[in-house]
Amino acid sequence: MPENTKISTPDANTKNVYLLTGCAGFIASNVAEMLLEDGHTVYGLDDRNDAYPVLLKDWRLAQLKRFPKFHFHELNITDRPALEHFFQETLRRENRTSFSACIHLAARAGVRYSAINPWIYFETNVTGTLNLLELCRNSETRKFILASSSSVYGNSTAEIFREDQPTDTPCSPYAASKKSAEALVFSYRHLYGLDASVLRFFTVYGPAGRPDMSILRFIHAIAAEKPLCLYGDGSQARDFTYCRDIASGVIRSLKPVGYSIFNLGGDHTYTVNQLIETIAEQLGKTPRIDRHPAHPADVARTHADISRARTILGWEPVWNFQDGIAQTIEWYLAHQDWVGRVIESA
Ligand code: UGA
Repeated sequence: MPENTKISTPDANTKNVYLLTGCAGFIASNVAEMLLEDGHTVYGLDDRNDAYPVLLKDWRLAQLKRFPKFHFHELNITDRPALEHFFQETLRRENRTSFSACIHLAARAGVRYSAINPWIYFETNVTGTLNLLELCRNSETRKFILASSSSVYGNSTAEIFREDQPTDTPCSPYAASKKSAEALVFSYRHLYGLDASVLRFFTVYGPAGRPDMSILRFIHAIAAEKPLCLYGDGSQARDFTYCRDIASGVIRSLKPVGYSIFNLGGDHTYTVNQLIETIAEQLGKTPRIDRHPAHPADVARTHADISRARTILGWEPVWNFQDGIAQTIEWYLAHQDWVGRVIESA
């Protein structure tokens, strides 16, 4: 485990007031915790939707509510009047004209479900982003961070994915919605000079992670000695990235960059079969595998070129895969009584 994963925000001496969307979600709750530990004020928005059981979202919120400078507002970013009211009231209360930055991590996530209900992905990921961009423009909030996804690379045949390669062949409506949001942010840079960091996250995992994603699902199945559902033959590969590394990357990207896209990836690619072996070995159990056809919305592999984030943001992932999986298993075992139920109903 890395000795010191605490990082400071670029302007750590100034205590800032951040707007953070999706704060009950997995990535945003990690970002919120780091900002609050650094002494900043965080206004967190989340609609506590039922994309997966809200119990897990409320658990994350409960961790954040221990910080006095955390202010939670239950709000859906597609509700423009409510969002506008929130901006007006909050900035008035803080006696400010703008937020230090808008860190926009709220999203409908999940590749495979987007083939079933694509509308909700476009409403949240595109219209929701547009609402925030407009309010940032009106309030003169100059800095905008967008959560994008490695899925925008589609089934790229490149050995390693670079930010400047083509991304016009997404394999799922989810990926298409993220690509659309990226383009929208660029247009606000072009028209209004917004400073934007667009972050392409690579399969993020860790304690209190998303219960619809492979890692928590596999940990639960193997620990409970139940069959795990494997799509395809398990040779598909991902550049899995630990949540604390992602949070530090988000915070480093608060610096002014003009408009820049950054890959944030763990810098190593593992197959799903290797993932299953690692989890089984750490739990000391034999996995039972229930095989299903490969999902057509899934991509074959992802691998991030992170040299731009290294050079411009001074960012480096510090968690290795074995340690990240160990931390995730430890969290799962400590909360197994209710997390098992959350995973089974996700
Ligand atoms: C993940 C997230 O769900 C997306 O929100 C994110 O944008 C994306 O990473 C990204 O990096 O861009 P995904 O790669 O599908 O998407 O992550 P997992 O759910 O962990 O799936 C990884 C692989 O395991 C996929 O091939 C999937 O088919 C497989 N899998 C997943 C299974 O075989 N069984 C499961 O129960 C779950």
